[in-house]
Amino acid sequence: MHSMKYLFEPESIAIVGASSTEGKIGNSVVRNIAGGGFRGAIYPVNPSAKEILGHTAYPAVSSIGQEVDAAVICIPAEHVFEAVKDCVDSGVKQVQIITSGFSEIGEHDKENEIIDYAAQKGTRILGPNIFGIYSAAANLNATFAATEVTRGNVAILTQSGALGIAMMGKTAASNIGLSAMVSLGNKADIDEADCLDYIREDPSTAVIFMYIEGIKKGERFIESLEKTTRVKPVIILKSGRSSRGAMAAASHTGSLAGSDAVFDAIIRQCGALRAESLEDAFYWCSYLSSSPMPGGDNTVIITNGGGIGVMATDACEKYGIKMYDDQTALREIFGPATPVFGSTRNPIDITGGAASHDYNLALSAPAAAPDIHSTIALYCETATFDTENLAPMIRKTWEEHKKAGKPAVYAIVGGSSVTSVIDTLQKENVPVYSDVDEAVSALAVGYRYRSYLETRNNAQDWASIDMATINEIIDRAQSEGRSFLLANEGAAVMQAAGIPVPQSRIAQNLDQAVEYAECLGYPLVMKVVSRDILHKSDAGGVALNLDDKEEIIDAFEAIRQNCLNYNPSAVIDGFEITEQVAEGTEIIVGARRDPAFGPVVMCGLGGIYVEIIKDVVFRALPLNRQEVVGMLEEIKTYPLLLGVRGEERKDIEGLVDTIIKVGTIIKKCNRITDIEINPVVVYEQERGLKAIDTRILISNPKEDSK
Ligand code: COA
Repeated sequence: MHSMKYLFEPESIAIVGASSTEGKIGNSVVRNIAGGGFRGAIYPVNPSAKEILGHTAYPAVSSIGQEVDAAVICIPAEHVFEAVKDCVDSGVKQVQIITSGFSEIGEHDKENEIIDYAAQKGTRILGPNIFGIYSAAANLNATFAATEVTRGNVAILTQSGALGIAMMGKTAASNIGLSAMVSLGNKADIDEADCLDYIREDPSTAVIFMYIEGIKKGERFIESLEKTTRVKPVIILKSGRSSRGAMAAASHTGSLAGSDAVFDAIIRQCGALRAESLEDAFYWCSYLSSSPMPGGDNTVIITNGGGIGVMATDACEKYGIKMYDDQTALREIFGPATPVFGSTRNPIDITGGAASHDYNLALSAPAAAPDIHSTIALYCETATFDTENLAPMIRKTWEEHKKAGKPAVYAIVGGSSVTSVIDTLQKENVPVYSDVDEAVSALAVGYRYRSYLETRNNAQDWASIDMATINEIIDRAQSEGRSFLLANEGAAVMQAAGIPVPQSRIAQNLDQAVEYAECLGYPLVMKVVSRDILHKSDAGGVALNLDDKEEIIDAFEAIRQNCLNYNPSAVIDGFEITEQVAEGTEIIVGARRDPAFGPVVMCGLGGIYVEIIKDVVFRALPLNRQEVVGMLEEIKTYPLLLGVRGEERKDIEGLVDTIIKVGTIIKKCNRITDIEINPVVVYEQERGLKAIDTRILISNPKEDSK
């Protein structure tokens, strides 16, 4: 924290590579710092200049002779290490390396050398390969961007430099004011989490927007993101929905956990708002940076046009915004503002003849009505409207809503006079949009964020598990050089966690088969156990629906004969007698150790088509029961668990227990990399569930000993 303050609020800054030559990055950075109104000391560093842009220049940082909080480095890559060394040895606390030519082109050693040296003295490094930092707190524009920055309350963190520079221009053009803009580049040292730790506490930042390409230290990121969303909204735009991770994965869980699916689940779990486009992100920024959170669910739409009202209604349904529909109350609240040929049903249609005073009346009403919590105001340009009063009407009614602590968003559609009203009002931070969907989606993120804050629950639920037994099973598998558990070992792990599995025993001869069958009860399944027969069904090694002793005897003989015919030299290790599992709802439950985010759990619709249907949901650990229920509710086929067509509700509580148990296993046992139970057959409440087929991957024993 201490060192991050020097990044955002340095009192002195050196620019290594400062130049008098216009067009050079070292020239732009000095110009921006000085021209941006930085109040601290500015020290250009250049081996041959005496003075740059009116500031005394120094041949090296070590020759400045004053305390230097931060340094920007913009000299060619081959000289960067020496320059960093000079900064570190001179006691500079923060070094920003603009220079490219490091890990992004495979020069990892060059980058690591710098980071290692700086770490020895506690100097933090931003970059390399960045366009710099803007921080309103210090009036510091240490970037080489060409655009002037508009001050405001949105902080932007970006991994892409070029996009960041473009965003600086775009924020200005979109009337979004910045409290900070940080280019993270290669994230060799300082990353998103470090910056969030500072920005979270920064009183001038109301909203954070991050553009991310990938996360290196996932668990630290989750921790910092979660802390941040508790106090301010975070919007994330991420590119790279890569499927490379999926291709490399060895299990369904792995292949379904394409890095983006996990990332998406985790950031939503942390309360961040994921945008799909820059446009959306900017609309959301402008709304969240200006508006109060909705205090309840009831939303009204007020319009002068039926079509645009229907569009907004559709958008509300799409984004999960609830329309207020107490018809009596609506009539009472909006009756005085609605002509007889209009409508007080939500959307409230004050009709095409409405002028500014009609809008004033209609829009003031919800601000004062206790049961209405948010307003979507729509306007289609008409000839009867007194256009000169459009901006004052919006300004006035928006202030009224703001004073009442309620959000109001405006979508106004029309020609150039409307466009200029949008521009004027956006500069004043009023959430006015040119399209219905933009306005409704902005209000919806307010609702999403509110619902997250209301339902967040930091409790953690873990299960009590017989880890000694699980460790013994893994010891044995590793001692045999295996990186997977056999089916019966997987079942034993489930039993050690208290997850029900079908009862099963392995008979060595016919007498035992009969004895076990009588003991287990019918119907039963019999399967050959042979290391020489991988595909049991192909070999005729499986018999289903065995209902009595005679059928067991027949099946035993038939399987033995079939298998010997299939492979005369096959060694038959035994005959597995298993309870025949009744049909139920097939669910997949999995867990894996994500390379970036650590242990994650997954569940969804199970069975043989999981990878085609892909109806699965992920969560990072730790979790509590409430979050697991939320996870199940996100599965599209969740109604199957609630019971469809007169079926009873399934044992959802048992499934929640199972997910918590699987999560506990992966969390407690580092040697397990993947768990997948497919299917878990879930029955009605009193009949519980059964884990039918469990696959467990373990780390390679050789890697463990490294
Ligand atoms: N200490 C101080 N100044 C030094 C120096 C040193 N060790 N070595 C060189 N300089 C001076 C140079 O003399 C020059 O000053 P001058 O104009 O007065 O002669 C200045 O630093 C810049 O050096 P120069 O060799 O002219 O480099 P450059 O400006 O052409 O390029 C970078 C330097 C950093 C811009 C370039 O190497 C680079 O990495 N460009 C990509 C940056 C980028 O895109 N970053 C990511 C953004 S998204």
